[in-house]
Amino acid sequence: MSQEKIAVLMGGRSLEREVSLKSGQRVCDALTSLGYKVLALDVTAELVETLRSESPDCCYIALHGKYGEDGTIQELLEFLGIAYTGPGVVSSYLSWDKSVAKYIMAEHGIPTPAWITLTADAFKEMGAATALDMVPTEVGGFPLVVKPSQQGSALGLSKVEAPEQLPEALLGALSFGEAAVVEKWIDGCEISVSVLDSADGPEVLPPVEIEAKSGLFDFSAMYTAGETDYFVPARLEPSVTEDVLDLARRVHELLDCRDVSRADMVVAEGDAPYVLECNTSPGMTETSLLPMAAEAAGMSFQDVVERLVRAALSRRK
Ligand SMILES: Nc1ncnc2c1ncn2[C@@H]1O[C@H](COP(=O)(O)OP(=O)(O)O)[C@@H](O)[C@H]1O
Ligand SMILES: [Mg+2]
Repeated sequence: MSQEKIAVLMGGRSLEREVSLKSGQRVCDALTSLGYKVLALDVTAELVETLRSESPDCCYIALHGKYGEDGTIQELLEFLGIAYTGPGVVSSYLSWDKSVAKYIMAEHGIPTPAWITLTADAFKEMGAATALDMVPTEVGGFPLVVKPSQQGSALGLSKVEAPEQLPEALLGALSFGEAAVVEKWIDGCEISVSVLDSADGPEVLPPVEIEAKSGLFDFSAMYTAGETDYFVPARLEPSVTEDVLDLARRVHELLDCRDVSRADMVVAEGDAPYVLECNTSPGMTETSLLPMAAEAAGMSFQDVVERLVRAALSRRK
């Protein structure tokens, strides 16, 4: 039995704290049953002290959102010389900021919905009336989506059907951070594709199709059992399946993701896929998409966790 000590980082101060505690608990259970020594760590001000005194063999990052997914914790662990699961500092940051990731994807020919990034300052400089007038035309009209550039779990996100709803949506998104992404709404079938690195390169898992009963895959649809129907593998034509798998692999490589990533997409009518974003610390809860995809590929939750931990342990200094 392996006796390596794994610190599972979870909770923290982000708005996705509760989700992370769920992911973290499942990961702890899996690691315990695999025979590892497990240290469950809620991320608080004492984190550095605890890591120094415990010196784990590696950290499993089960954090979601700001500080956990944006490169902050990754940078701290680099500094402490502790190996960790998932993408490195730069990759985490680039993927976390939706606007930055969209620029990189668009530059490399990855289809992503038309968008404009508006910072609170740009909004003021332009004058609210001009901005509100110009932005919808730039992204191709209504409906559109407004979301914080740096956030997750659909927090601060709204679908905007008409001009009079835009100011409130923008204020909402900007209350979560400096920049908002205003993006064309793509009508179609929602797909999420997870990627796990293997010795032979990135392994792309079966696509998951998401059908939120309310019509919007928001926080409650993501985490409440029964509010969303999932189909794995997604009910796509074989050629479209190939397209989405290829896109997920390209995004994983383009953003230099290590170990794991999950690309969220919409396949528009006419079978054209668009990538919305790339997640570098995908959810590991009961209703999360990566574990669902892994299961369809014949991998248990424990298999996924072990694979991520083995990869991190191989980078031990
Ligand atoms: N441009 C879009 N067109 C259609 N649906 C969208 C669009 N942007 C976001 N959504 C919906 O909102 C959900 C959350 O958006 P996403 O960009 O994945 O951000 P996050 O998951 O980080 O909050 C998506 O899973 C999708 O259901
Ligand atoms: Mg998403």
